[in-house]
Amino acid sequence: MEVTAPVRVCFVCLGNICRSPTAEGVLRQLVREAGLEHAVVVDSAGTAAYHVGELPDPRTRAAARARGIELTHRAWQFGAEDFARFDWVLAADAANHAELARRAPDAAARAKLHHARDFEPGAAPGSALPDPYYGGREGFEQVLDLCFAACAGLLTELVRRHQLEPRGRVDARP
Ligand code: 4NP
Repeated sequence: MEVTAPVRVCFVCLGNICRSPTAEGVLRQLVREAGLEHAVVVDSAGTAAYHVGELPDPRTRAAARARGIELTHRAWQFGAEDFARFDWVLAADAANHAELARRAPDAAARAKLHHARDFEPGAAPGSALPDPYYGGREGFEQVLDLCFAACAGLLTELVRRHQLEPRGRVDARP
């Protein structure tokens, strides 16, 4: 049997407590629903170190939980060396994209970097996941909505680019 390494995806925002853990949880749910858990590994990180080791913001967790997504991620900071551990690095907005481009050690790393919404149908190139941290509850709902749209488009692109095949459920009985 041919064994292919999973595609490794990392979403990156500023603090790794609002947008990128939300995108991580949403993509993981879509990957599970698509039968692609064996083929895609999802993580998230921050460009800043303010919240390293913390769970996602309570507002982020509550909004995700209301849609059936439990976020248990612990924040960590994305460094130059981390490009080697991922195939796709997806920035939440232009500022984080610029910071990641600055940290990319070489052209191969730079080629892994995209905006998180680049594969969302209808989104303008470079569209942001807006930072909800200083706003109200509606900002967290908007981030979730945008993450579902962005991640659906991203997963379609991952399947196409890496020729991913769903794996049938092993509990199916004749
Ligand atoms: P995130 O949101 O980048 O989506 O996790 C923020 C989290 C924390 C801060 C800013 C944005 N902060 O300034 O601490």
